[in-house]
Amino acid sequence: MTDTKLTSLLKQMTLDEKVNQLIQLAAFFYEGTTSEGKITGPMEEMGITNEIIHNSGSVLGASGAKEVIAIQDNHLKNNRLGIPLLIMADIVHGYKTIFPVPLAIGCSWDSDLAEKSAEIAALESAVSGIHVTFAPMVDLVRDPRWGRVMETTSEDPFLNSVFARAFVRGFQGTDLKSDKNRVAACVKHFAAYGAPEGGRDYNTVNMSERQLRESYLPAYKAALDEGCEMVMTAFNTVDGIPASGNKELMRDLLREEWGFDGVTISDWGAVKEMVPHGVAANEGEAAFKAIEAGVDIEMMTASYVKNLKSYVHNGTVNEELIDESVLRILKLKDKLGLFENPYRGADKKLEEEIVLSKAHRKTAYELATKSCVLVKNDGVLPLQKSQKVALIGPFAHNGDILGPWSWGGSKEDAVRMDEGFGKKVNSSALFVAQGSDIETGTEEQLEEALAAAKKAEVIVLALGERSDMSGEAGSRADIRLPEIQLNLIAKMKKLNKPMIAVLFNGRPLDLHGVIDEADAVMEAWYPGTEGGKAVADLLYGDVNPSGRLTMSFPYSVGQVPVYYNHFSTGRPKGAPDAQVRYVSQYLDIPNKPLLPFGFGLSYTTFMYSEEKLSSQTMRTDEPITVSVKVTNTGMVTGEEVVQLYVRDLVGEVVRPIKELKAFQKIKLKPGEEKIVTFTLCEEQLRYYHKDLDFTSDAGFFTVFVGPNSEEVAELTFKLI
Ligand code: GLC
Repeated sequence: MTDTKLTSLLKQMTLDEKVNQLIQLAAFFYEGTTSEGKITGPMEEMGITNEIIHNSGSVLGASGAKEVIAIQDNHLKNNRLGIPLLIMADIVHGYKTIFPVPLAIGCSWDSDLAEKSAEIAALESAVSGIHVTFAPMVDLVRDPRWGRVMETTSEDPFLNSVFARAFVRGFQGTDLKSDKNRVAACVKHFAAYGAPEGGRDYNTVNMSERQLRESYLPAYKAALDEGCEMVMTAFNTVDGIPASGNKELMRDLLREEWGFDGVTISDWGAVKEMVPHGVAANEGEAAFKAIEAGVDIEMMTASYVKNLKSYVHNGTVNEELIDESVLRILKLKDKLGLFENPYRGADKKLEEEIVLSKAHRKTAYELATKSCVLVKNDGVLPLQKSQKVALIGPFAHNGDILGPWSWGGSKEDAVRMDEGFGKKVNSSALFVAQGSDIETGTEEQLEEALAAAKKAEVIVLALGERSDMSGEAGSRADIRLPEIQLNLIAKMKKLNKPMIAVLFNGRPLDLHGVIDEADAVMEAWYPGTEGGKAVADLLYGDVNPSGRLTMSFPYSVGQVPVYYNHFSTGRPKGAPDAQVRYVSQYLDIPNKPLLPFGFGLSYTTFMYSEEKLSSQTMRTDEPITVSVKVTNTGMVTGEEVVQLYVRDLVGEVVRPIKELKAFQKIKLKPGEEKIVTFTLCEEQLRYYHKDLDFTSDAGFFTVFVGPNSEEVAELTFKLI
């Protein structure tokens, strides 16, 4: 439809119909539709009517071609102007074929494969009737106590931006109207949801505008620059005002400064939550603040539908604000081609053929092999197929490896660790025992595990967190493995056999009781549908691990927040002239994380040499190049993530001790060498000054290049 036609459609709508377009209700409101069209969902407690539902603008969480077609059919029968529903759902890292959780995908440092995973997720979603996905989640994270760190890609703004763009490209493609195999993306949670105090979900976020702009906003902006169609507001406050009622954030910055004219949606109940936040006395005030802030769709509360009509009639709210929101929603429906075809890509037959196909599983497998991170190996890996193996732990025979946001993924479809191992060694050489549950265990389980381990030459422990121990509302103050599992490790250690720990978890853990006891540690995160096969292939060396951590593992939870791109302080520990005591340090633990950003091991080794700059001076219009020779000095082919960091030695405000500016993932055969070259330009040196001007300063900079954020060679140049 042209804008004119959309505007004329808007003009035909009554005020009721317009306001009702602004509510999003969960699928269960529609699924109870009786043959007479009466909706039997839980309407009373929300105080909504059939009328409102028949005129609602979008539904949350419907999926499956059959179900969506039925809901849309019934909706169109009852909607006076035939305005179709938008079907939205949380397809974060897969629809039915589940890919590794985004934090794992980040550790692949492979944005092309990330894009491919989003494309597949979009295809499976589209044939199942979904129009919009509530992804990518790009919140920057520095606190592993927060349960949702698994849902984003890293602690670094640049890397999150790279993946944000890749996910949007994969979900949306280039033309949503013609490409029915894609879905619109909705970047979330705007803004800075990943920085709750204490790592406690939904808690207060408090930071300067400079830190917000420097670290937390870039990835949302990157998603929007890539054409992301929607933005979801965060539950938290930004500078003391909840995002869903924050005009400075939602209008001045998002719409005015960034020029975003797409649809915004509140997070679940976030409009009404302005009342418990204490910035609205009632739902009416919450509705007023949200519509003034430009929040178009209210998810799962009814503040808008209960208040906006009267507010327009009594002059509290200008009807133009509602028209604006409705028109944006109609434009999105049009962009998706819903007026021509309200069912869009929904296709029961195709759904059966495409969803969870072999090809999709293959991509999920490949991404899982690239997302796992080998963080310790005292020579016990790779395993030999001739070895007798005891596979022990609560994840030895457990399909709960899809993560907490795995939509239609089922544990039954997941390749478990024992299945993965079963393909590697014959049953006479594989002894499987649970040893304990995730948080509890019995003497019998332990005895059984000890018996299995005694028959084996090597012990593989499959340990971790249940998927509901991270994810939304999954914050933990103690981020160690559960006690029962630490006890299992200690008991196994006493057998003095080579012992490998594989971790299935949704956050960087405090690895006390694991990292010293095991001879090797593989971080598998939640590797998705093909996880068991991917991990087994990695442990046996059929695939060489290439994952690199994108979130620091703290030495202990007391060190949190710990992240690589921190400031120096006036008393940096380890500085040449530093005193022993009066420096920024802990008395009882090191300052550095246990495992740094960018870290990961391979079955081969790489040597870095001949680090060079093309010039010692950079001009605004004359970039410089940084080159380094990387050689595979080991016996097997391997992939290496060559990382480039920069430090601004003197700024108008303090500057991070290093910031990731570029990376290249390269593959080298044994003995092969490659000169890796990066171009560095002035724009990459800009930062927010005292007055928030985003510019660079002439002066000296250090370039760091190496395999992770700590093992780096340093070079210096001057911007003039
Ligand atoms: C949840 C999450 C959000 C999700 C939404 C819809 O509360 O915060 O990420 O998209 O509700 O399920």
